[in-house]
Amino acid sequence: MLLAEVDLTILLCLVFILKKSVMSKTGALDLASGLGGKIKKQEVQSAVEQYEKYHVYHGGDEEARKTNYSDMVNKYYDLATSFYEFGWGESFHFAHSQLCPCRWQGESLRESIKRHEHFLALQLGLKSAMKVLDVGCGIGGPLREIARFSSTSITGLNNNEYQISRGEELNRIAGLSQTCNFVKADFMKMPFSDSTFDAIYAIEATCHAPDAVGCYKEIYRVLKPGQCFAAYEWCMTKHYDPKNQEHQKLKAEIELGNGLPDVRTTDQCLEALKLAGFEVVMEKDLALDSPVPWYLPLDTSVFLDN
Ligand SMILES: C[S@@+](CC[C@H](N)C(=O)[O-])C[C@H]1O[C@@H](n2cnc3c(N)ncnc32)[C@H](O)[C@@H]1O
Repeated sequence: MLLAEVDLTILLCLVFILKKSVMSKTGALDLASGLGGKIKKQEVQSAVEQYEKYHVYHGGDEEARKTNYSDMVNKYYDLATSFYEFGWGESFHFAHSQLCPCRWQGESLRESIKRHEHFLALQLGLKSAMKVLDVGCGIGGPLREIARFSSTSITGLNNNEYQISRGEELNRIAGLSQTCNFVKADFMKMPFSDSTFDAIYAIEATCHAPDAVGCYKEIYRVLKPGQCFAAYEWCMTKHYDPKNQEHQKLKAEIELGNGLPDVRTTDQCLEALKLAGFEVVMEKDLALDSPVPWYLPLDTSVFLDN
């Protein structure tokens, strides 16, 4: 992630709840063995170069990133997952402190991440018999936490083979292999029948979609009528000026540092959700009133405290 130097007023983490109408820290050895995901050790360097070429800094363009999103995103996670797990834990997302400013009084990053996950589960009203889908589930940190918190069975959908193998191992260790599972597939074309799930959530994952409407439509399709989808999404705020070169540079850095084809604005995301068929029940810019900046864990001046 390349966010440390970024003017972050232009980026937010949006939460939305939508309705369909009627850290386990691994050791250094694990890090070394996982590095590169399914990329062979001798091919890691060329994978880095191929990944970089998708991005503006290295001559790439948005169209190529969108056309080749599977390759671009998988290369990113094959290369980055072990570092995420080592430095961040099992959940690969940010957490804000607006709903409980206790992070100032000693809340750790890990605690705030769990609270962020519990909040989503509560908003969805998860109950034990429900069949839940986690879209873009990483190695399953949120899936395990939410499954235990809500006593639900959760399917984690992910297009990255290496992350699924880590997730299955961590589910086995956590004793959740019987109630939760992983499916390797693209969230742009999910291998589920219409109206399969009682609730769906996505945490900082659908930002990787090449086409927001197409992705949200798939989520809408597999959600049962009358049920809800909740998500944390990365968006550019109204402060973002597409003609401002400094803003363009910051956006390009965010895309490069996070495997993103584009970073959509809040309005684009909300419009895409409505076009997919959802009624927006709640939406909020979580960065606005948080007493702790959401990017705090990337701030090198406080890095060691996190
Ligand atoms: C930032 S990670 C977040 C993971 C997880 N939600 C968490 O919070 O720990 C984004 C995830 O989206 C997944 N992803 C990206 N594009 C995808 C696609 N087209 N289909 C399925 N999963 C995808 C990535 O493989 C990765 O697991």
